[in-house]
Amino acid sequence: MPSTIEIKNLTKRYDNLTILDDISFSINPSEFIVFLGPSGCGKSTLLRMIAGLESITEGEIWMDQDRLDVLPPGKRNISMVFQNYALYPHMTVEDNMAFGLKNIGTDEGIIQSRYQASF
Ligand SMILES: Nc1ncnc2c1ncn2[C@@H]1O[C@H](COP(=O)(O)OP(=O)(O)O)[C@@H](O)[C@H]1O
Ligand SMILES: [Mg+2]
Repeated sequence: MPSTIEIKNLTKRYDNLTILDDISFSINPSEFIVFLGPSGCGKSTLLRMIAGLESITEGEIWMDQDRLDVLPPGKRNISMVFQNYALYPHMTVEDNMAFGLKNIGTDEGIIQSRYQASF
């Protein structure tokens, strides 16, 4: 079921260095979003904050009616595919994509149909 993600006034600072400054936007159901910017501008930091792998300094992250930023990564129902190093090299593309769904006990038929729909 597609969801809306809402980023509200998100700020990230490391000590007194501000990386992301009061970012707000929404991602609507089934919308495909790309963040484009020079190296070091904060793209990965933003994704890590949404996934829960990086703390946020200020602001909130919502998925539909749920506030995400107060939840641990495993409770957010968010997946992140890293730029490097995080695929399981001994597994097929299909196995890599199915891994998270298998872990939460998703029916094999649903995994198959989602996999097929991703191409
Ligand atoms: N743990 C950290 N401590 C201090 N600065 C950091 C840390 N992690 C990332 N940064 C800085 O945050 C900025 C944004 O990094 P990043 O999100 O990786 O950029 P991008 O993905 O857009 O290339 C960079 O200037 C980087 O040096
Ligand atoms: Mg990056």
